[in-house]
Amino acid sequence: MSEQLFHDNETSSCYDRYRPEYTDDVAQYVINYARKSQSNDKLDLMVEVGCGSGQATNIFAPFFKKVIATDVSPTQVRHAVEGNKWDHVTYQTGSSEKMPFQDSTADVVLSALSAHWFDLPKFLTEAERVLKPGGCLAVIGYFLQSVALIDNPAKMFSDDGSLFLNHLLSFNFDGNASKTVDVKNKYANVFQAIPWPEKQRYDDFCIERDWSLKDIEGLETSLGTFQNYVRHRLEKVKSGEIMESKVIEVERLKDKVKKLLQIETDDEDKVTLKAVFNEFILVARAP
Ligand SMILES: C[S@@+](CC[C@H](N)C(=O)[O-])C[C@H]1O[C@@H](n2cnc3c(N)ncnc32)[C@H](O)[C@@H]1O
Repeated sequence: MSEQLFHDNETSSCYDRYRPEYTDDVAQYVINYARKSQSNDKLDLMVEVGCGSGQATNIFAPFFKKVIATDVSPTQVRHAVEGNKWDHVTYQTGSSEKMPFQDSTADVVLSALSAHWFDLPKFLTEAERVLKPGGCLAVIGYFLQSVALIDNPAKMFSDDGSLFLNHLLSFNFDGNASKTVDVKNKYANVFQAIPWPEKQRYDDFCIERDWSLKDIEGLETSLGTFQNYVRHRLEKVKSGEIMESKVIEVERLKDKVKKLLQIETDDEDKVTLKAVFNEFILVARAP
């Protein structure tokens, strides 16, 4: 299923525009783990799988002599190439289950908010093959933790993301729910599946963003689980089970936030919100 995601141009543009960028702290944390000495020298090679349009690639790039970032979606790769500002970074299509890299070549293998779409055993086998001995596997991600009104911070919803999670589950049908839960659990399943003795996690960095209601809608549209839901509903339109006007029957996230924060305005552009995403990092050392 993951191979069909993020392929259409509109969703990929939405992704590019509305997904938050990771904090530099995340890259620094991973690099501190990956470096085997105190030196500040650049590491040779990072390879990335599920790079999207390069959100995480950009914050890791300064620490490497060479970066090759891959994604299974050609559309995501095209957006990444268009936005590429680095001479030493290249983007290409490729799958996490069969990485287009030679054995024992990478200092870091990175997956940013993509591991929940992978075949985990195949991904971990490939990471071990591609990493130099002692190289670092980094699996990172984030989820929306709270949204508050900037003018009135007391008006906030923050419940460790479970309201957001519950919202995502409203797109539920076979195959969608577990993806959301993997992210909400901060990839506990991925951490457990890593078979190497040296591994650790860090969950305390946050991304803060000033947001409009339109940004919330954009983020929601960019979610793989939302796209899955829409695709699933469009199939029902084709088979005559529902009418075209009923494709999106879930309440949009922006309307939920409006209700929760009791925002009563028709001028949605005037509403500014502070969104906080919780970042999480898993690192492990290849044997
Ligand atoms: C939620 S996006 C994350 C993008 C970006 N890394 C970020 O942090 O925002 C997940 C990405 O994983 C890609 N993807 C899904 N399954 C994949 C697979 N098996 N191999 C490689 N990429 C995959 C999707 O095309 C999508 O671009």
